[in-house]
Amino acid sequence: MKVLLIGDGAREHSLAYSLGKSPKGYKVFALSTYINPGINEVVKNTNGEYFIGDTSSVDRVKEVIKRVSPDIGVIGPEDPLFHGIANVFKEEGIPVFGPLKETAKIEESKAWARQLMWKYSIPGRLKYRTFYTIEEAAEFILNYGGSIAIKPAGQVGGRGVKVVADLEAYLSQDKRDALSRSVSGIGNLYKKEGEPKIIIEEKVDGPEYTLHVISDGYSTLPLPLTQDYKNAYQDGIGPETGGMGSISGPDHLLPFITEDEYVSTYEIIKKTINAIYEETKKNYVGIIAGQMMLTELWGPTVIEFYSRFGDPEASAIIPRVDSDFGEIIELTATGHLSKAKIKVKEESSVVRAVAPLGYPISKQMASNHKIMLDLNKIKEVGCIVFFGSVALEGMQLITKGSRALELVCIGDFNTASEKLDKCINYIHSDTKLIYRHDIGKNITEHIEKAEIVRYSYKNRIRNGTLGSSGIWSPNGGLW
Ligand code: GLY
Repeated sequence: MKVLLIGDGAREHSLAYSLGKSPKGYKVFALSTYINPGINEVVKNTNGEYFIGDTSSVDRVKEVIKRVSPDIGVIGPEDPLFHGIANVFKEEGIPVFGPLKETAKIEESKAWARQLMWKYSIPGRLKYRTFYTIEEAAEFILNYGGSIAIKPAGQVGGRGVKVVADLEAYLSQDKRDALSRSVSGIGNLYKKEGEPKIIIEEKVDGPEYTLHVISDGYSTLPLPLTQDYKNAYQDGIGPETGGMGSISGPDHLLPFITEDEYVSTYEIIKKTINAIYEETKKNYVGIIAGQMMLTELWGPTVIEFYSRFGDPEASAIIPRVDSDFGEIIELTATGHLSKAKIKVKEESSVVRAVAPLGYPISKQMASNHKIMLDLNKIKEVGCIVFFGSVALEGMQLITKGSRALELVCIGDFNTASEKLDKCINYIHSDTKLIYRHDIGKNITEHIEKAEIVRYSYKNRIRNGTLGSSGIWSPNGGLW
């Protein structure tokens, strides 16, 4: 069976890896913007073919489909989904793992997602307001007296969130000007014609986690929880990135999330899939993920949704799957997910990304550097590597401006972290590399934070005040 994989990062390498090792013997073909060495290896080993081009271009994807005649399509990143690449496969009559453009809107438009949650009374929803102009948003912020999160109203690769926790600090003219400038920066990140630019939400706090659920439109399959580490540098400082690492486990939980919280989160996602169907009359096929926070307001609370695997979250989950994940992809695309069985290693996993200095601020600074790594030594230590934003050019690995590698280790958090600490010694570059040694090590902090918010939201359950902050309503803030 021929599978055409769209995308070029570490997440797509992990998808290719699961397809390549499936006993079903899939032939893997790929379309990427550059030759990812990991995907290339799978393509070669399965007698597929590698194509280069714009993964969001309908015309390019149609050309490749014509050349390959795939039996299944697999779409990794969000951008091709937003550009209707799953629709292209569907129109050609090819089953596809990845949601249609209409349903991927759950990620593309934060405003649409919030509206849906309110319309269908989905738990874990935050109050919000949307703005078409930067001026209106700035005016609202200056007049409103509570803590808020200001975000681009659509997906911009995890960038752009600004939390304003102390509005009093903005009362001086200088600070007002600074605020307007920073809102303007956020407002300019998302520019879709006819859509709001900025969304402002009530601010919540607590440990974050992600639940990925596979859906074929008829049944669903939840995957183990993960936690993403967003900030570029050690101890959670520095700019927000797509994720500098992730953890998962043990088993299907995280040490700071209970079974009940897992079940409630799964309920939120299932309700969301149903609501998407009600709104669009289209089945949701592929992955939907709730990027969650455990808050005193709701317990499990939705920060945003993904319409695909998180990256680097995929790298924390896929290597833990002992059953045939390639087959699960096929069963999902063909509408037979109810037949899928999934067995996941009980041990935890830790993922750490390696990125060239410059990421995520300057793509130019982070591009065109050589990366050298000793794969055998990394394997001897017991870790695996997924190749991300790094191209095979001749015999050299050249950085493409984002996270170049993801190192994965399965085992308890301490052991996995120690092994990963060793692995970084086997990776070199002609530029400085960013790598967070703390990922997998600060679990107690999350446990303590979760205990505090758990105490508070359980109190709200007893008082009948779960989810009610009484500050503003979604369409008309009180300020
Ligand atoms: N790790 C966050 C994302 O994939 O957007």
